[in-house]
Amino acid sequence: MEYALTATKTEARAGSYYDKIWRLYDLTFKLNGYGRSLDQYFAAHPLPLSRGARILDAGCGTGTLTLALLRTLRFPVSITALDLSASSVEAARKAVSQSRDRRRDVSYAQGNVLSLPFVDNSFDLVVTSGALEYMPLEDGLNELARVIAPEGHLLHLPVRPSPASLFLEICFRFKHHPPHEVMRHTERHFKVADHYRFPPLQVIGWTKTAMLAQKV
Ligand SMILES: C[S@@+](CC[C@H](N)C(=O)[O-])C[C@H]1O[C@@H](n2cnc3c(N)ncnc32)[C@H](O)[C@@H]1O
Repeated sequence: MEYALTATKTEARAGSYYDKIWRLYDLTFKLNGYGRSLDQYFAAHPLPLSRGARILDAGCGTGTLTLALLRTLRFPVSITALDLSASSVEAARKAVSQSRDRRRDVSYAQGNVLSLPFVDNSFDLVVTSGALEYMPLEDGLNELARVIAPEGHLLHLPVRPSPASLFLEICFRFKHHPPHEVMRHTERHFKVADHYRFPPLQVIGWTKTAMLAQKV
């Protein structure tokens, strides 16, 4: 598929690439316990949300994070799952429809994180994992901050530098952002409420941290 209308050539490459490899990506992250680690994270760190909250999963891929949100949230919310790769969005839609967790609350969009099809202040929470590594950090965070309502939150799972992430960078063609840059750009729009290191025995902890920040 071509993404000329929604993305520059560089961004479009990520969308087309994931159209080809989404099955491999999905399998890798199913096998490594990513979903289970997210469940444990959410159990220990309840999200600052109330009934009816509007949530965006920016760069949703095959829906792992969306599914974890549906498992953890025990009240009605509305989730929008967006990705540049149409095949990934379709896989996310299928995975949610096959899950038991309130499939009716999720809508889907093929789109670019750098040019989101939403008006300012549209969401109470934006979650994003593994997508900002495909774009200039400042531009990505500016756009996410734009669509988050005042006092709303960003949950960002940035890739941290490690031998394991170097391996993933080669497999999945991304580049991590240095942690001090992630912090510096995040603090331009947000107050960081929590920066969590996953336990070393969880595979997710080899490559990611979780940063919860509130829009100021
Ligand atoms: C490493 S995967 C992460 C998927 C999912 N968030 C997860 O945690 O499993 C990265 C995803 O970001 C998407 N992506 C990359 N650049 C994007 C952009 N500019 N806009 C929207 N999605 C993008 C890719 O298509 C891919 O599905």
